[in-house]
Amino acid sequence: MTDTNQQIELLRFTTAGSVDDGKSTLIGRLLYDSKSIFEDQMEAVERASQSRGDEEVDLALLTDGLRAEREQKITIDVAYRYFATPKRKFIIADTPGHIQYTRNMVTGASTAELAIILIDARNGVLTQSKRHGFLATLLRIPHLMVAVNKMDLVDYDQAIYNQIVQEYTGFSRKLNVQDVTYIPVSALRGDNVVEKSEKMPWYDGPTLLHHLETVNVGASLNKVDFRYPVQYVIRPNQNFRGYAGQIASGRVAKGEKVVVLPSGLSSQVKSIVVAGQELAEANVGDSVILTLEDEIDISRGDMIVRTSNLPQKSNRVDATICWMSEEPMKPRSMYWVQHTTRLVNGFVAELNYKIDVDTMHREAADTLTLNEIGRIQLTTTQPLYYDRYQLNRGTGSFILIDPATNNTVAAGMIRGRSQDIGQLREGEVDTAPSRPKSSNVVWEQEGISLAQREERHGHKAAVLWFTGLSGSGKSTIAKKLERQLFADGVHTMYLDGDNLRHGLNGDLGFSSADRQENIRRAGELAKLSFAHGNVTLACFISPFSADRRFARQLVPEGRFLEIYVKCDLDVVKRRDTKGFYAKAMAGEIDNFTGISSPYEEPENAEIVVETDIQSVDDIVAQIMTELKRRGILAAA
Ligand code: ADX
Repeated sequence: MTDTNQQIELLRFTTAGSVDDGKSTLIGRLLYDSKSIFEDQMEAVERASQSRGDEEVDLALLTDGLRAEREQKITIDVAYRYFATPKRKFIIADTPGHIQYTRNMVTGASTAELAIILIDARNGVLTQSKRHGFLATLLRIPHLMVAVNKMDLVDYDQAIYNQIVQEYTGFSRKLNVQDVTYIPVSALRGDNVVEKSEKMPWYDGPTLLHHLETVNVGASLNKVDFRYPVQYVIRPNQNFRGYAGQIASGRVAKGEKVVVLPSGLSSQVKSIVVAGQELAEANVGDSVILTLEDEIDISRGDMIVRTSNLPQKSNRVDATICWMSEEPMKPRSMYWVQHTTRLVNGFVAELNYKIDVDTMHREAADTLTLNEIGRIQLTTTQPLYYDRYQLNRGTGSFILIDPATNNTVAAGMIRGRSQDIGQLREGEVDTAPSRPKSSNVVWEQEGISLAQREERHGHKAAVLWFTGLSGSGKSTIAKKLERQLFADGVHTMYLDGDNLRHGLNGDLGFSSADRQENIRRAGELAKLSFAHGNVTLACFISPFSADRRFARQLVPEGRFLEIYVKCDLDVVKRRDTKGFYAKAMAGEIDNFTGISSPYEEPENAEIVVETDIQSVDDIVAQIMTELKRRGILAAA
């Protein structure tokens, strides 16, 4: 930022521990012994300690900012605390140690470069201590410091310390972390925090502060890819329009060409302002105000990036999440996805597995409960502009919020674009919707086997899944194809979104969750029809690939043909056979595919037809040929 700031290095770190591990005291001790606190604060703390009848100054009071919550052992938000020594500046994302410690750790850690994991020497290594270490590595915090605290309460016993170090080292070998440093301390007595302890002559490593002052910093931050999520638009008068926010990664300089996402409008950086002062450039972590050369429409949640360096864009991402709510995860329920400063709707389309923190093994799971960590496929209604967490902690992370309670329920790290189900291993596929709700339901075997039916019919059973925008021509093609099949004596069944929504699916609307349920039912219906030996023609917009994949995996491989009925959006808008596009564009219909709700194009459709260039007859012939080629229909 400014010259003076650049001279002194900055270390952002975070602390994690359970209630009573002594986190607040440790931070207080750091501030106190490094003389980083102001006189008046100290006096206030001394007064408060005396009034509580404490013999010693309660350092935790310093950390907890004299808050009343301290008495109830609940401090709510992540608090950032600043202190400096002649060698370095520090920002601590302080994560209070009540039950929801992981949430704070996760939200406080996106720019942290070191995590202090506190272990109470009397309790040894707990599952929580491992969880924190694992989370820190998931969060890609490059340095771990295990502070074995309360050494005074175990008589500064080297054997106890060694035992903890040995146990945690065994565990940390399974983690993807290069640097773990162990330090025996007593935050209360000040041993090895700032001053070297005389009580532990057997320890010859650095003190905690010394390590903080010398650990290598800066290597893990993304200083290349400029990402600037807009927090606020500042418009004090007609002549000034600025965008306030924190640079999530990279750097930006005056005069650079930028583009605004999602609008795609471009401009140039006119000025970078911090506290009324203009800067030539700014870097990751800096909170600034940007102004642009052009008057363009920008609002909170938009992201400004360099024209030549764009983030990824997708509606479906593969992520690792840590569940942080007492309420278990509800797969396929709607959550708000807070990604940078942007809020969109989304749902967990698949839970691939959860991880046992003690063994680091993957386990099949239906849901995630408090503090559990799992791998998911997340679908959002609007695309996310993201980078992989591995490359960018700022734009690679998100949180899930329960819209009913407004509580943060999970923190996630994006691994990349969602993978196709074929790449996921057996058991990782979410088959939950196929399971009966009541365990008192058994599957009634059909009296006549599929093979017998196929033999009688003289053709194979299949599901022809037509997907595409509303008005793209799915039903027109399917109906014509069905007439042809019928004429050839093929047993068919025709399922259509509009028809199903009149009866079986009459209770469903067009939210992502409703659409998913729509496709789930349609898929299950197609499966039953398939089991009866029919060539089943299913016409549904089915805009989400996750839902189509669900329908696909209900029937044997090779028998589900996804037919992408492709048509340019402008063409379907112009055709507008039902008049819905006009209404949707006028804002009279919500969640309209292609207008206010996404359509995820199939990437691996078996058949692609283009109704804006091919005739219906050609398309029918194309599909017939394909059905014969694949042996579903007997070749003529
Ligand atoms: S899907 O998205 O859940 O697969 P489905 O194919 O069943 O949709 O139904 C789509 C039909 O519903 C459209 O052809 C259109 O006639 C009608 N419709 C009404 N509202 C919407 C909407 N918001 N988006 C898309 N189609 C809509």
